Amino acid sequence: MQGQPERSWSHLQPDHLAHSFLVNTIGPALVIKHFLPLLPRQGPCKAVFLSARVGSITDNQLGGWYGYRAAKAALNQLVKTASIEQARRNRQAAVVALHPGTVDTPLSVPFAKQGLNLRPSDLAAREIAGVIAGLDGGHNGSFVDYQGSPIMANKIRVEADRCAPKPVLAPGMTRTNHRGQKSSQERGTWSRSKKNPGKRPHKGG
Ligand SMILES: NC(=O)c1ccc[n+]([C@@H]2O[C@H](COP(=O)([O-])OP(=O)(O)OC[C@H]3O[C@@H](n4cnc5c(N)ncnc54)[C@H](OP(=O)(O)O)[C@@H]3O)[C@@H](O)[C@H]2O)c1
Repeated sequence: MQGQPERSWSHLQPDHLAHSFLVNTIGPALVIKHFLPLLPRQGPCKAVFLSARVGSITDNQLGGWYGYRAAKAALNQLVKTASIEQARRNRQAAVVALHPGTVDTPLSVPFAKQGLNLRPSDLAAREIAGVIAGLDGGHNGSFVDYQGSPIMANKIRVEADRCAPKPVLAPGMTRTNHRGQKSSQERGTWSRSKKNPGKRPHKGG
């Protein structure tokens, strides 16, 4: 990172943004371009990219750090996209973005004063190596942390969301479910389209 992270949109600077994308996004993109074709087409193999939790759009609770967040979010998208291409070449490959945690390195030292709990770099390296050792094709395209836990990419619907009353729609209006499927008030929630009505609830018997 170069300079101080932006706390406000008023701090956004083209040079700082460009540098953040150069280091965190464009560099890894070139690694993808030149190294992923070298992975074997059969058998287990892994490519892991160091991202950061702040690159998760869903996980962004505090704001700030515009350039770094955006560059890591873009990296996560590159890794996800490359994982899809890689899966077409080798189903056993794992292309993964990994958050190393907050580690005691020259990058994080300037922020240690703000009460960050910095983990020693040798411990972080061991934990990361352990997570990488456990990766297989089932993890392809995921974004995980140093404990191997997935980092939210999409909001997981909780019970409160499911129980919340749905807004009443005017006749003929459509509602979209969490998968983007449209359902019509008139045709009922189990209809998908006129051509493809989809599955209907089993009515006993
Ligand atoms: N530290 C954390 O708390 C933390 C948290 C989340 C994510 N991450 C991510 O983890 C990764 C590693 O971070 P870090 O904390 O180890 O950062 P760091 O202490 O700043 O180290 C960065 C490394 O990248 C090298 N580097 C920097 N600019 C380069 C360039 N233009 N060309 C070639 N090499 C260059 C540095 O080489 P030199 O040593 O030769 O300068 C250094 O080895 C980064 O992607 C970072 O975003 C770190």
